[in-house]
Formats: sequence, C-alpha cells, structure tokens
Amino acid sequence: MKSQPRLNRERAKELLGEVDLIISRNQPPAALRKSVVQLLNLEPTYNWVGLYLVKGAELRLDAWSGPAPTTHTSIPVGKGICGLAAKSGRTEIVSDVSKDPRYLQCFANTKSEIVVPISWQGKVVGEIDVDGDILNAHSSVDREFLEALAMKIAKLCA
Ligand code: SME
Repeated sequence: MKSQPRLNRERAKELLGEVDLIISRNQPPAALRKSVVQLLNLEPTYNWVGLYLVKGAELRLDAWSGPAPTTHTSIPVGKGICGLAAKSGRTEIVSDVSKDPRYLQCFANTKSEIVVPISWQGKVVGEIDVDGDILNAHSSVDREFLEALAMKIAKLCA
C-alpha cells in the first residue's frame, strides 16, 4: 500500500504560501476557490476535498477535487459532520467515520474526515471538507493549517 504521510508544519507553511500566490491571481473568486481545492487535493491525506458555501439554511457544494463526485451537493445546516460544523462554527475532526453516527457517507473508502468552517464578518459563509482514506488522517496540524487557510479565503467566499 502507498504510504500516506500526514501533513507536517513545514509543508503546511509552504501550502499557505501557495494559497497566497493563488489568491494574488487576477481571477474571479470561483476560479480561485477551485484552484485552492485542487491544491489541497494533492496532499496524500486529502483524498477528497470540497468547498461548500452557505446559502440560507443549506450548504451548497461550490468546488471539489477528488476521484469521484459526491451526491451530497446540498446539505442542510445542522445535518452530518458538514452541517454540524456550519451550525457551531467550530472545526470537526472525525478520526473514524464508522464510529460517528452523525457522519453522512459519500465514499466507501473514506475512513476519517475534517471539516473547517469559513467565517466572514462573524458569520459562517462556507466550509472546507476533507476526506481521508486512512484512519486518523488529520490532526491539530491540519486543523491549524485549514483554519489559517479558511481565514485567507474567507473574503473569496463571502
Ligand atoms: N461526510 C459529510 C458529507 C459530505 S461528503 O463527505 C463529501 C458529512 O458527514 O457531513
């Protein structure tokens, strides 16, 4: 089996620099959001990456990158791990999705998940959803990295 090194702080810092470069491009916000998602999906433990935007009482899938599309293109706020993070405004890390009854399944190979809300002017405007194909794929390093990234891209999601 291909080894799946988890994100480390050095790589996280490099990635945040790459995000800054993407944001500095003179492109429409939707194109920038797509580029950020594609960049994240290159990480070995970021096997499927989605960016949802809050539209009323729902989360709508805006951009994604991964091996297959999800059927969860629209999720009520409050439902699933995604809906929960949107409701609370807090990051959710699920180290084993099979043990979390709140989890909405998308892909048979997903073993763990991290969802990080994106807030702008005190309101949750979206979130980043990352599925990992190994158990316990994401740690506080991923949380800090994705929360910093969420702050960088918040304006693009408002
Ligand atoms: N697993 C998520 C649903 C979205 S898919 O992973 C793309 C959840 O429990 O909310």
